[in-house]
Amino acid sequence: MRSPWLSKLSLIFGPRPPLNWLLLCLVSVLVLVALLGSFSSDEIASVTASVGPDYSNYRRLKEQALSDYLELKNLGADRVKDFDLCGKERENYVPCYNVSANLLAGFKDGEEFDRHCEVSQDQQHCLVRSPKDYKIPLTWPSGRDVIWSGNVKLSKDQFLSSGSMTKRLMLLEENQISFHSDDDLIVDGVKDYSHQIAEMIGLGSDVELHEAGVRNVLDIGCGFGSFGAHLLSLKLMAVCIAGYESTGSQVQLALERGLPAIIGNFISRQLPFPALSYDMVHCTQCGIFWDDKDGMFLIEVDRVLKPGGYLVLTSPKSRQQQSKGSVSSPFEDFTRKLCWNFLAQEEETFVWQKTTDAQCSSKQGSVPVCNREDGQSYYKSLGQCISGTTSKRWIPIQNRSSGSLGSDELGLHGINPEDFSDDLEFWRSSLRNYWSLLSPLIFSDHPKRPGDEDPMPPYNMVRNVMDMNANYGGLNTALLEARKSVWVMNVVPIGERNTLPVILDQGFAGVLHNWCEPFPTYPRTYDMLHAKGLLSHLASERCSMVDLIFEMDRILRPEGWVIISDKVGPIERARTLVTQLRWEARVIDLQNGSDQRLLVCQKPFVRK
Ligand SMILES: *[C@@H]1O[C@H](CO)[C@@H](O)[C@H](O)[C@H]1NC(C)=O
Ligand SMILES: *[C@@H]1O[C@H](CO)[C@@H](O)[C@H](O)[C@H]1NC(C)=O
Ligand SMILES: *[C@@H]1O[C@H](CO)[C@@H](O)[C@H](O)[C@H]1NC(C)=O
Repeated sequence: MRSPWLSKLSLIFGPRPPLNWLLLCLVSVLVLVALLGSFSSDEIASVTASVGPDYSNYRRLKEQALSDYLELKNLGADRVKDFDLCGKERENYVPCYNVSANLLAGFKDGEEFDRHCEVSQDQQHCLVRSPKDYKIPLTWPSGRDVIWSGNVKLSKDQFLSSGSMTKRLMLLEENQISFHSDDDLIVDGVKDYSHQIAEMIGLGSDVELHEAGVRNVLDIGCGFGSFGAHLLSLKLMAVCIAGYESTGSQVQLALERGLPAIIGNFISRQLPFPALSYDMVHCTQCGIFWDDKDGMFLIEVDRVLKPGGYLVLTSPKSRQQQSKGSVSSPFEDFTRKLCWNFLAQEEETFVWQKTTDAQCSSKQGSVPVCNREDGQSYYKSLGQCISGTTSKRWIPIQNRSSGSLGSDELGLHGINPEDFSDDLEFWRSSLRNYWSLLSPLIFSDHPKRPGDEDPMPPYNMVRNVMDMNANYGGLNTALLEARKSVWVMNVVPIGERNTLPVILDQGFAGVLHNWCEPFPTYPRTYDMLHAKGLLSHLASERCSMVDLIFEMDRILRPEGWVIISDKVGPIERARTLVTQLRWEARVIDLQNGSDQRLLVCQKPFVRK
């Protein structure tokens, strides 16, 4: 689809304008946009305050407009045109995980499975296509248990049951994969398992987990997410994390079911979460050799666990030798050095609890305590010291207040409670705006009558939202308050203030990410993307808006929604681009006298 003003230009210059004319017009429009964008209200204010005009903003925008123009020119090869679809081999393409390229670049000992964006720098701008049989995912709640088999990549034998209990729940019915069985035996398996874990940590049943301070769970190697799906039904935030897999990916399947998941591993680098993030880490046959690398994997688990948090391991092999109490394994040695309490074993499941005593490990002295703490654990190598013991956030999970964060807790994060509540108020009203904008688009077949409640489901169509610049997670809170059945992946961009700890402490899903790079997820895994101020932020980081928009197209499912909120300059540039990606796009001026605009888009379902 052409953007409207391009068509207008065609009218002026005749049906086939010479290429150079078109480009010239494009650049002049872009510069004009940049000029207009530069006269934001605060700048006018600064002029009238006779400080003198500040041209740096103008110059930067102009440079950006020019560089975007050059990018567009290069991309469009001989003319500015719609972009092409990638080849079939890229249907499930995840950048940065090219194992053969990593091996060629000399990575070995498992590091070839790590994320290496620098190795597979990809200059090819094409749109990742959907598989031939792709269908829009089923709506919740049924879509949690049944997915279209054509939407995910599986090899033949992966259809068959195999592996552990939480991984076994896959049955194929015609063109669907079902994660439950009619006789409910298997579903009960997951319930029993979760019940068993609750009992092992001394609770009557798993519904008490929340009260006992367990709000979020990191599920390493989650199988197909069935354990997480059960935890979500108990109002716990379970996030699946697993390495990249080219077929039968646990992360792809979990996301296709609408469950929170992200590609990640800790082969050589820390997880993209701060210290003291999770109340429970769970691993069922997650393929980690815990004894390896001098216990560095256990140190990483210790880092992300909150004090008093739990590690749950289920594996037929673990602790076989030492169950007789004879020789202790390196694993057991390590748990002692880290001051974890061994709580219980039942069958193949083992539970440890991280200490609540910040001094414990320094008293023990066998694993050093890190002397410098910093929050940004992005691309940091695995550590050999214990983190978080000097943090103000060292609060046992059992002592946490239930409900929303109080002013004391906000104080620990260095957040002014008033700012926090203003921010939330802003998001409440933004969400109302978004919803009144989107409802007629999403629910065009369900016209809303005056006085009607909002149509109940967004969950009908929107199961997840990625908030690409999440700040305190205010959009997430507003969605929950408005009883929208969605979960949010709250992304804190590198270079912005690191608010991930406060996001995780509210029991939300979140991750650090550098938006100059691709996001670690499979194509078509999000229903809605939201980005406030991200375009302006990225312009200051000097990375490419074109790359970002292509990446957004990759991770958004067909017919998914995008809301970008930013200054008028970047919004207009983004609009130009997204129409070339054939997104439906409209710019919305909130008419409140600011230079902020919304760009509301829908990605089309290209059947080809
Ligand atoms: C992975 O890297 C190899 C070697 O550099 C290259 O031939 C191949 O095309 C790459 N695969 C993808 C999907 O980019
Ligand atoms: C946590 O609560 C227990 C029991 O109420 C109390 O003894 C302990 O001091 C508290 N710990 C912290 C760090 O607040
Ligand atoms: C106008 O709305 C935008 C987006 O909702 C907001 O960021 C801005 O502060 C508002 N401006 C005024 C002057 O109210």
